[in-house]
Amino acid sequence: MANGERAAHFASLDDRREDQFRQVWSNELNDVFADVAKYYDRANYVASLGLWGWFRKNFIEMINVKPDQQVLDVCAGTSAIGIALLKKQPGLNVTAIDRSEAMLEVGQQNARKLDLHIESLVHDVHQLPFPDNHFDVVTLQFASRHLRIYDVTREIMRVLKPDGYFYHSDMLRPANKIVSTLYYSYLRACLNFTALIFRSNTAAVNCRKYFIDALQMFYSADEFDQLLYEIGFVDVKHKTLFGGMLGFHKAKKIITQENKPKEN
Ligand SMILES: C[S@@+](CC[C@H](N)C(=O)[O-])C[C@H]1O[C@@H](n2cnc3c(N)ncnc32)[C@H](O)[C@@H]1O
Repeated sequence: MANGERAAHFASLDDRREDQFRQVWSNELNDVFADVAKYYDRANYVASLGLWGWFRKNFIEMINVKPDQQVLDVCAGTSAIGIALLKKQPGLNVTAIDRSEAMLEVGQQNARKLDLHIESLVHDVHQLPFPDNHFDVVTLQFASRHLRIYDVTREIMRVLKPDGYFYHSDMLRPANKIVSTLYYSYLRACLNFTALIFRSNTAAVNCRKYFIDALQMFYSADEFDQLLYEIGFVDVKHKTLFGGMLGFHKAKKIITQENKPKEN
């Protein structure tokens, strides 16, 4: 595929996903996370059979951070990533952005308990309200299925400094059909179980099907590599767990004529 065709291909995948999920993305998801906020971390531990902390450890281990760096956590939710990064490197400046006030508020409470500071901002991430070339590191975990991910990743590229890194962690679409069929059945059972024991609200109960449909229409690890390359990232690397059900990506922004810092 030529360059222009690849860009059109990724934009059309976003269009298809948005056409399919417009109602959930624009109306229901916020109600879901307003309800889920208070039990989000516990529900994830239950649904992952206790492996949630290990998933995060894998992700945090691959993120290189240095004192005084500017870090942005996109769709930060309860700021689990920001908190883990501050524990790893207390000299960071961490900003968390998410559309859900309730999720960010739980994140603020969690950070305060540990005496950690995170700037948080309630905002839709399809437009990041930050200048170009501003952050050394940008992270995005467990939210890409709810987004026009090609557009958001281009925004991430814009706000990253040259030589900065983007780190992505998410449930992905396994390339193998048998693995994916088993995976979706397991997820269906988990969503029913957690909705029951945490007494989810109507919005969360109604979105159980959406969570699986959104995954089925999402990227495999290799396809996500292609999206990152298309946007202009280099050194794209990924690692997967459980036959591609979970993927961790790392990608670097390079200096170009357009984003080169001006010399004094
Ligand atoms: C499953 S949670 C993930 C939270 C966190 N990153 C983590 O790893 O635990 C998904 C988050 O994405 C946020 N989100 C979904 N669509 C968004 C949008 N368009 N703009 C900003 N945040 C959004 C939700 O509010 C929610 O907090």
